Amino acid sequence: MKKILVTGGLGYIGSHTVVELQAADYDVVVIDNLNNSKQSVKNRIEEISGQSFELCIGDVNDSEMLKSLFIKHAFEGVIHFAAHKAVGESVENPILYYQNNISGLISVLSTMEKFKVSNLVFSSSCTVYGAAADLPVTENTVIQQAESPYGTTKILGEDIINDFAKHKAFKSILLRYFNPVGAHPSAKIGELPLGIPNNLIPFVTQTAAGIRNELTVFGDDYSTEDGTCVRDYIHVVDLAKAHVKALSYCDEMHLKVDVFNVGTGKGNSVLEVINTFEKVNGLKLNYRIGPRRGGDIEQIYADTTKVNDLLGWSAQYGIADMMKHAWAWQQELE
Ligand code: NAD
Ligand code: UFG
Repeated sequence: MKKILVTGGLGYIGSHTVVELQAADYDVVVIDNLNNSKQSVKNRIEEISGQSFELCIGDVNDSEMLKSLFIKHAFEGVIHFAAHKAVGESVENPILYYQNNISGLISVLSTMEKFKVSNLVFSSSCTVYGAAADLPVTENTVIQQAESPYGTTKILGEDIINDFAKHKAFKSILLRYFNPVGAHPSAKIGELPLGIPNNLIPFVTQTAAGIRNELTVFGDDYSTEDGTCVRDYIHVVDLAKAHVKALSYCDEMHLKVDVFNVGTGKGNSVLEVINTFEKVNGLKLNYRIGPRRGGDIEQIYADTTKVNDLLGWSAQYGIADMMKHAWAWQQELE
């Protein structure tokens, strides 16, 4: 059994990935400092997979703790999720983001180097493309200056990994996620809400649940079919499966570092999302059209040719499943 370290493995995407790794017969060890997760997620993952895994409650910036994990286990690879991810918070407190996201990555890389562990899968984001001129975006689309310190940590993270890999026996896959949404079909794991959501789907489900009075659609005067912004929403279980594919591709690839878009390849507007949510769940959402939100890009969706061809991965769930599972998870939370 191949042993994999998953940093941030109790978080939203990490928890779903641990389930898929266990289903693919990987032996998983998780390090998570519970900064944005709960220890009870471990039991829920184990309920789904029917298998246990080792959890180390600790910070990836604690190099002594990381070292002790690498002494104890012969890892074949690392999936590095641990990071802060709130765009607004990163603008308010950039140092917090550079500290956690950049220092954390450096700590992981230097420990991997010390213990001669190759194969890193890194969580990047479509935020690196900014407002791309041509759609859909391919992996060769020009990277733009980030609009937030959070975005900068993803661009810098990719650069650091590229520089690091040049002179080392080291391989890495950078996965540029589009908009991860939904939850596990079992409704045992999903995204944990923290305060007032900034993202569309948690705001939709909380409005449906009566936690929020009203959803505001940020602008309907964009140059899109119905005037609202378009994104490539990807089911978190599909995204999790892409990590398993990426790990095995690491072994066979010729490049030191390779990068993949992970999306469905299809864009959905905000109104399409709302209409689908209402239809599949038989609910009416209280929403109104409001002004644009500063910093929003009009539309973005992925060209998924590369991930389809080289990783042999494609999204299986559509927007209706995403909305059904997101709502089932919200009800589980109440
Ligand atoms: P999340 O906050 O749910 O999960 C991150 C996990 O890492 C949490 O469990 C948190 O407690 C843990 N963590 C944070 N800092 C840590 C540290 N220093 N040491 C140990 N554990 C730490 O976030 P997520 O949505 O699962 O995102 C995972 C990764 O994917 C992040 O790198 C994020 O930037 C990236 N990403 C997320 C999205 C998205 O929309 N969710 C989009 C693109 C990229
Ligand atoms: N939206 C609303 N009302 C809301 C919330 C969102 O209309 O209450 C709209 C937004 O304007 C946008 C769409 O729904 O058009 C999606 O918004 P999200 O905030 O869910 O997602 P974003 O695409 O704006 O943000 C995502 C990630 C960020 C990342 C960013 C970069 O959440 O981490 O992409 O592209 F930085």
